[in-house]
Amino acid sequence: MSDTQPTVTLTQDQIEFFHTNGFLAVPAISTPEEIALMREAYDRIFAERAGREEGNQFDLAGTDEEGREATLPQILNPVKYAPELRDTLCRANARAIAKQLLGEGTQDMGDHAIFKPARHGAATPWHQDEAYWGPNLEYNTLSVWMPLQEATLENGCMQFIPGSHLLEVLPHHCINNDPRIHGLEVDHVVDLANPTVCPLPPGGATFHLSRTLHYTAPNRSDTPRRAYIMGFGLPPKPRATPRNFYWNDQKRTAREERAKVATQQAAQETQSFPVTS
Ligand code: NI
Repeated sequence: MSDTQPTVTLTQDQIEFFHTNGFLAVPAISTPEEIALMREAYDRIFAERAGREEGNQFDLAGTDEEGREATLPQILNPVKYAPELRDTLCRANARAIAKQLLGEGTQDMGDHAIFKPARHGAATPWHQDEAYWGPNLEYNTLSVWMPLQEATLENGCMQFIPGSHLLEVLPHHCINNDPRIHGLEVDHVVDLANPTVCPLPPGGATFHLSRTLHYTAPNRSDTPRRAYIMGFGLPPKPRATPRNFYWNDQKRTAREERAKVATQQAAQETQSFPVTS
């Protein structure tokens, strides 16, 4: 485990704001020096297309075919490809804040990175994160979204619908109703008139619960928008009443195909080189 000590503590007002609204913006969980180092690692793994073969790198908002430029490239588990992202001040702070918000038993739930290219990055449509997950589990989980440059309305900062964390998981569909696309969009957005827009400085962060409706606009600026996302939560429990997330059963993505082939190859390699002791 990391030795890095957290430097941020929430006030009671911030904790109450989070539980009332389902999200919270915190101005700084990192330092400019750390953000500079993280940006270097982040740009490197996107340039290398790290994790592509394993299905950990894909286009969140497109059909993800080879040779077509991704509109919203995403990397799952970026720490695997850039270990320098592991023991960071931002993670220590994010974890400490998550414990304040959810309780002492809160654990790390994995990272991902979403890159919005300059001028053509797609929107991340309105959705609840829990719509991607297992329908038979009960979650008490939050996501920490940290930009590695300024995040603005123009380049795609986070937007939230206050109070939407109290809703059940709403029906979702694949973006453009195309089952080849990994990204999900909620069928009907409630009360879209009043989203809260959360611009942030580099190394600031928003915290949101698994059912809070959120959105980021396309990147209309001349520079890329880099977001680093860390998940935290209490261990999920089995649900008393199972749900039907049919939108995930309908998906047929190139990412899943690559992940399947990579797993089969790994299994074959294990078979042909048995480990003996
Ligand atoms: Ni999300």
